[in-house]
Amino acid sequence: MARIISQILLLCFAMVSTAMGETGEQLYLDNCSICHGNEGQGGVGIPLALSSFLNQAPDEYIQRTIRYGRPGRVMPAFTHLDDKQIKLISQFVASWRKGPSPVWDETPIKGNPQKGEALYKQYCISCHHAKGQGGQGTGLKFSRPKELPISAPGIGNNGFLHSATDQMIKQVAMHGRKGTPMPSAIRDLGLKESQVDDIVSYLRSLQKPLKSTQQKLDEEPPVLVYDSDYSLKETVANLERAAVGMNFRLIRNQALDYGFVEAEKESTHEEIVFFCNFNFLYEALKLDPRIGMFLPCRITAVERNGKVQVMSINPKRLSHFFNNSELDQACEQMHDTYTSIMEDATL
Ligand code: HEC
Ligand code: HEC
Repeated sequence: MARIISQILLLCFAMVSTAMGETGEQLYLDNCSICHGNEGQGGVGIPLALSSFLNQAPDEYIQRTIRYGRPGRVMPAFTHLDDKQIKLISQFVASWRKGPSPVWDETPIKGNPQKGEALYKQYCISCHHAKGQGGQGTGLKFSRPKELPISAPGIGNNGFLHSATDQMIKQVAMHGRKGTPMPSAIRDLGLKESQVDDIVSYLRSLQKPLKSTQQKLDEEPPVLVYDSDYSLKETVANLERAAVGMNFRLIRNQALDYGFVEAEKESTHEEIVFFCNFNFLYEALKLDPRIGMFLPCRITAVERNGKVQVMSINPKRLSHFFNNSELDQACEQMHDTYTSIMEDATL
């Protein structure tokens, strides 16, 4: 008995001590190291331990970046971490810095955004792409060439613009980042300081109000539903015809409770139509293998009290889990396909 009690006490102690001992390092290892490397050396994510980065990036910038992420790019918004945890992580990242944090200076820069746009197109677009959307090829499709250490970040990205001050953007552009492909606009590109101000004003003009991922998610219903005036059997036949009409191959149909009950007891009030377009499938899998969890495409037809409905998952809602802009496009295409098939079948 005494042994059991002492074991329970030990267990409680272990639980309390891990809860109390949540360190910035542990949080970093749990949430960030997979992309930024155990020692901030970089990987899928930008290197964070470089002094040329840390001497430009105030702690506040690091905290906001963790909070807002880079919507549509690989860097997630860490909505599940609270302010205290985010602070601990940023302190841990800042511990790689030799000196103090650069000052957080919100003094706006007033350049000429039209001139800035022209300069951006001439000097920055080759790496940061149109409207600062950032280089392609980071992320989960493993397509980044090995010799390209860093893909240029999205500097017109709303998450970046809400995290960085004008002064910080100017510092990075003026001095570049030693140890990365990011050049100095003054030294390497021969620009004047006033021209850098113009570019900063152009980038700032791309900023939009912040919308949380959760908010965007809430606007998309999780399931797409349409009423059908046809019988269940007719509705299923309509779905099949509509899917084939949109270049899909029918794979199989099955009762919703298939596998859960004996065949003769399967419900005749629900039927799932599985279909697939192999070109789309291969393209989507190349973008992100996790999309395989939601394929092949399926639409369910259900009859309740004589009323027939067709429904599918909403691919747009799914795409928010991935935070990958190319996959967002694929999911949007899937969403439009699902809605046309269901509209067609119930018309
Ligand atoms: C799934 C991969 C991934 C994870 C996880 C991740 N990041 Fe990132 N992070 C990136 C990528 C990729 C970028 C570059 C953003 C871009 O391309 O626009 C980035 C950018 C950043 C930046 C901006 C760097 C700069 O040069 O200004 C900071 C700061 C950052 N991440 C910190 C973190 C921290 C701290 C965590 C953990 C809480 C984290 N990241 C987790 C992929 C990731
Ligand atoms: C040769 C490619 C290249 C060119 C040209 C280039 N950049 Fe960059 N830029 C990068 C890379 C790569 C990074 C990421 C550096 C790192 O790892 O910290 C970067 C980072 C930045 C950042 C910091 C973003 C962040 O997430 O912290 C800013 C701001 C920036 N660049 C602005 C500009 C501007 C303005 C120009 C044009 C005057 C420009 N860049 C031209 C490659 C380039």
